[in-house]
This record gives sequence, C-alpha cells and structure tokens, in this order.
Amino acid sequence: MLRSLLSLAALLTTALAVNPIEIVDKKFYDSVTHKQFYIIGVDYQPGGSSGVGTGSDPLSDPTQCLRDFALLQKLGVNTIRVYSVDNTLNHDYCMSLLDTAGMYLLLDVNTPLSSQSLNRYEPNTTWTADYYFHIYSTIDAFKAYENVLGFFSGNEVVNDVTSLAACPGYLRALQRDMKAYIKKTANRTIPVGYSTADDATIRSELGKYLTCGDDASAADFYGINTYEWCGDSSFTSSGYSTLTSAFENFSVPVFFSEYGCNTVSPRTFTEVAALYGDQMNGVFSGGLIYEYNEEDNNYGLVNTDGDSAQLLQDYVNLQSAYANLSIPNVTLSSTIATATTTLPSCSGLNLDNWTIPAVPSGAPTAGADNYGTLIELTAEELVVNSTVTDVSGNVISGLSVTPVGRAVSGSVSGTSSASASATGGEGKSGNGTTSVSGAVGMGVGVSLGMAVLAAVGAVVVIV
Ligand SMILES: *[C@@H]1O[C@H](CO)[C@@H](O)[C@H](O)[C@H]1NC(C)=O
Ligand SMILES: *[C@@H]1O[C@H](CO)[C@@H](O)[C@H](O)[C@H]1NC(C)=O
Ligand SMILES: *[C@@H]1O[C@H](CO)[C@@H](O)[C@H](O)[C@H]1NC(C)=O
Ligand SMILES: *[C@@H]1O[C@H](CO)[C@@H](O)[C@H](O)[C@H]1NC(C)=O
Ligand SMILES: *[C@@H]1O[C@H](CO)[C@@H](O)[C@H](O)[C@H]1NC(C)=O
Ligand SMILES: *[C@@H]1O[C@H](CO)[C@@H](O)[C@H](O)[C@H]1NC(C)=O
Repeated sequence: MLRSLLSLAALLTTALAVNPIEIVDKKFYDSVTHKQFYIIGVDYQPGGSSGVGTGSDPLSDPTQCLRDFALLQKLGVNTIRVYSVDNTLNHDYCMSLLDTAGMYLLLDVNTPLSSQSLNRYEPNTTWTADYYFHIYSTIDAFKAYENVLGFFSGNEVVNDVTSLAACPGYLRALQRDMKAYIKKTANRTIPVGYSTADDATIRSELGKYLTCGDDASAADFYGINTYEWCGDSSFTSSGYSTLTSAFENFSVPVFFSEYGCNTVSPRTFTEVAALYGDQMNGVFSGGLIYEYNEEDNNYGLVNTDGDSAQLLQDYVNLQSAYANLSIPNVTLSSTIATATTTLPSCSGLNLDNWTIPAVPSGAPTAGADNYGTLIELTAEELVVNSTVTDVSGNVISGLSVTPVGRAVSGSVSGTSSASASATGGEGKSGNGTTSVSGAVGMGVGVSLGMAVLAAVGAVVVIV
C-alpha cells in the first residue's frame, strides 16, 4: 500500500515550490512564512546579448535549463537574473523547473532587438507603441509564475552625463506604466525596479530620484551593478564601506544586481562573506554574481559546449563561499500584508526637475496573449541527461534537480529523496541549499521525510 502510494507520488512533483516574495519596509519577505529573504543569486544569460533572438532565449530550452538549474541548485543559489527573453515563446517548463528547484527569477523586460529598449541619448525616439506592446507582452508571459521576484525596467540605461540628462523621467514613466499594468492584470503585486551602472557619481543620485515621491511611479527596489571588490580586498579598501553608507537610508530594498570583479582570476569571492555579513546585511538584500556562463569577457562559472558543460574553478570557489554563509534569520510578525513604506519627497534632489512623459501615443492596453503558467513536472523531468564534468574533467553522475519547498501534492519521490541525500552527502551544496532556503523554509534532512509523508497524504486525499 505504502509502496504503491509512494510510486504514484514519484510521478508528480509540486507545481508550487516557492512562495511569492513581498516587500515590507525596504526588505524582501516570503509572503507565507514572513521570513526575510536575501537574494543569493547568479546572473544567467547564456550566449550573452545574442542569447535572445528569433525563437530562442535562456528560459525556453528544456535540456539547457535542466542542466543549468541543477548546477545552480548545487551551487547554493536561490535567484537568477535573466536579461532578455523572447516573450512569444513557451517558458512553462523552465520556470516550473526553477520553482521546483526553490529558485526565483528577476527578469529584465528589455532586449537588444529593435523596438525592445530605450535609446539612452534620445529616449523619445524609442518611446513607441511597439515598445509598450513588447513590455506588456513580457509581463503577460511571466506574471502568473509565482517565483517571479520582480521585473527590471532597465539595466544601465543611464551610464554617463548625457544619458543622465536624458532618461530619468522616461525610467519613471516606465516604472509607472509597468506597475499600473501589473496592478490591472496580474493576480499579485510583482515588484518593478531598476539596475544601475557601476558609477558612484550616478547611482546614488539616480536611485534617489527613481525611489522618491509618488509610489505609483517609484521603483520598488534598486539593483546596483558593482565590480569594486577585486581579489582579496576588504570592506574598507574595496569601497564597499562607502557604498554601504551611500545606501543606508534608501527606502526600498537595495541589492547587488551584478558583482564579482574578475581582474584576479580564478575569483575567490571573498566579497560574498562581506555582502551577507554584519556590516552590510542591514542595508543590502544580497546580490547576484555575474555570471553563470563563460563568455568572451571571462566572468563564467561554467563553460558550456552544446549540451555538455564543465565546471570552472570559479564555480567551486563560489560554492565554498556560499556554503560558508550564515544568513540572518529574521521573521516578521504577522503584519506583513499591512505594513507600508512612505517614500521620501523628491524635492531638493538634483533630478527633481522632470516632467514624467505620458504613455507613448497609440500605446496598446494589452500584450500579445501569451500567458505562462506553472506546470507539474514528473520525477523523470528532473534528471539531467547532459554530460557535465567537474574542474578536472571527471564526469559528474547522478545529477538532477532536487525538489524543495512546500510539501503539497506528491512533491517528493523515492528518486528525488535519493538524489537529495546524494547531494547532501557531497557536503557543500547540501549545506548551501539548507542555509540558503530562507524563502523555502525547509531544510533537506528531516523535513524531506516529513515532506514524503505529507505528499503521501495529499495523494490519498486525491485518490
Ligand atoms: C526628440 O527630442 C529631441 C530633442 O528634444 C527633438 O529634437 C526630436 O525632434 C525629438 N524626436 C521625436 C521623434 O520626438
Ligand atoms: C534636470 O537637472 C539635471 C541636473 O541639474 C540636468 O542635467 C538635466 O538636464 C535636467 N533635466 C531636465 C529635463 O531639465
Ligand atoms: C542616514 O540617516 C542617518 C540618521 O538620520 C543620518 O545620520 C545619516 O547621515 C544618513 N546617511 C546618509 C547617507 O544620508
Ligand atoms: C567564511 O566566513 C568567514 C566569516 O564571515 C570569513 O571570514 C571567511 O573569509 C569565509 N571563508 C570563505 C571561504 O568564504
Ligand atoms: C530562525 O528563527 C526561528 C524563530 O525565530 C527558529 O524557530 C528557527 O529555528 C531559526 N532557524 C534557524 C536556521 O536558525
Ligand atoms: C533522460 O534519459 C532517459 C533515458 O534515456 C529518458 O527516459 C528521459 O526522458 C530523458 N530525460 C530528459 C529530460 O530528456
């Protein structure tokens, strides 16, 4: 009896592994457990800016997602950032797999393709109905996935004095219209934010402007791309202390949307301990290491070639740094839904002079009707078939995504609990997953057993 129920359970994994994240008073929280959420992330855009094109993007190829998400899970990651997607494709499998692996997505809505981004020097020339159709279609394609942590309205759109003089009002207009579209069409609040360039003269001023005043057009979070800490640096000599002071009073969550200087290689990621440590974890909500895939600019953790992949030394070093973290364990009282933040006034800022433009003329009221949805996956769909080798070139066998999270509807199977203990047995990734899963609220060891029981219970109820 038990055996047959278990094998039935083995056929299904839950479609809902992680809880949506909400923002309360400049921090991220799990909307169900009310535990504070720190982003432990990696930027993910295999192929770089050419990784999106007609018919392909980083979240549409099942074989690639499976291999990479299994490796990201073993690395100890809870969030990926994707820079560009093709909003006409089906992302259900990759997004459901990401969710099953206990990971969130931060998604940029722009792409390098025509009519799909702002021109930083002449934003009015790209302020078009076609651009808005693209933005709305991207929101539509992703808004139903509960593991979407937020959307970036832009990445480094402002990166010099000229673009600083041209763009801020447009960025606020985009924030306003993305938030309004989400409010009108999505069934939960999905935060909208901006990711700023590594430029100390711009980021604080622009950030204050994007997060002040009327909440309807203000950024809900602010991401900083920073490459200041190189090699074996320190909190003060890297510039992190100055950066931390500059953002100490921001009224929205602030995190590193890209970090990981590579002028010293292989990277040892000593900045990771600093970012999540006592001097910074009160100001920043974690960060995303740039980047998963090895490209020409040499920031990769993993080298891929067709379906196969090889871990680089940076992957091993980052895995050690993540396994060594102890993330603050903060749980809100049950007031999560009612707490509100009052944003500071915009007046007195250098950039308080913008007239925020209206929606482009002829802008659509809806996107292209391609709506994603989380789907249930089978245990077989979690098993990696691609060839993956370690740093020395030895094949890593038995690689799979271990389902984590809520114990509902058959989430844990015999196969996956075996692979979970195998993962745990390898030391770092097991620990990494446990300490990382603030959002998930469940460790691997004992709670897996409970999950199996709950899963069986759910199956009994269904039968
Ligand atoms: C964009 O703005 C510039 C400078 O303000 C102006 O010269 C140009 O005509 C505008 N272009 C469009 C398409 O509105
Ligand atoms: C607003 O002020 C900034 C800083 O003084 C200036 O660079 C920018 O051109 C001004 N923008 C507008 C729209 O007047
Ligand atoms: C942040 O607020 C504190 C307390 O009001 C103040 O002392 C400090 O100077 C502020 N920091 C910045 C960078 O504005
Ligand atoms: C582990 O954490 C400690 C304390 O935060 C830090 O000093 C040390 O550098 C970290 N080690 C690694 C490998 O990151
Ligand atoms: C976090 O804190 C809660 C209570 O505040 C406690 O029950 C839980 O065991 C703690 N978790 C960890 C990993 O320390
Ligand atoms: C992996 O290979 C097995 C056996 O060849 C096959 O049954 C399964 O469908 C494959 N899984 C994926 C995700 O391709």
